[in-house]
Amino acid sequence: MTSTVLMTRNETLNIETDVTAENRTAIASMLEKVLASTYVLYHKTQGFHWNVTGPMFLSVHELTERQYKSLSKAVDKLAERIRTLGEPAPMGLTGYINDSQVADQSEFPTVGQMLETLAQDHLMVADEMRGIVEAAEKLKDVYTADLLTSRIGEHEEAAWMLKALAAS
Ligand SMILES: [Fe+2]
Repeated sequence: MTSTVLMTRNETLNIETDVTAENRTAIASMLEKVLASTYVLYHKTQGFHWNVTGPMFLSVHELTERQYKSLSKAVDKLAERIRTLGEPAPMGLTGYINDSQVADQSEFPTVGQMLETLAQDHLMVADEMRGIVEAAEKLKDVYTADLLTSRIGEHEEAAWMLKALAAS
C-alpha cells in the first residue's frame, strides 16, 4: 500500500495573512479559470508551431515557439499561485478544456487563420485577466493583481506580434 506521506493531496493549507481565507479561496477559483485558458492557449500555440507549412514556416514556427515557452512558464506560475493561496491546483485535462475561454482546436487552419486565431485568443485571455486584477485588488491580493497585470502585458505583446506577422 502507498504511504499517504508520498501521495498528492487535494487539501486546503492553513495560511494567515491580511487576505482572508474566504477571499483567498475566491481568488484561487478565479485563477483556475485563467489557468485553464492559458493552458489551452499553450497547447493550441504548440499545435500550430508543429503543423505550420508554407513560405511563412520559419517565422511562424519560431514566433509560436517563443510564445508557447512563455505560456508554459505562465501556466506554472498561475498554478503555483493557486497553491500559494492554499488551494489545490486543478488536475485533469477535461476540467481545463471546460473552464477555458480559449476554444480547443483539432482542425488544421490556414497560416493566416492560425495567426488571427492566436492573436484573438491572447486578447481574450488578457481581458479575462483584467477582470480578476480588479477583483484581486479589492480583496487586497496585490501579488495576484501584479502577476496578472504582467501577464496582460505579455498577452497584448503576443497579439501585436502575431498580427504584425499576419500583415506581411
Ligand atoms: Fe519545436
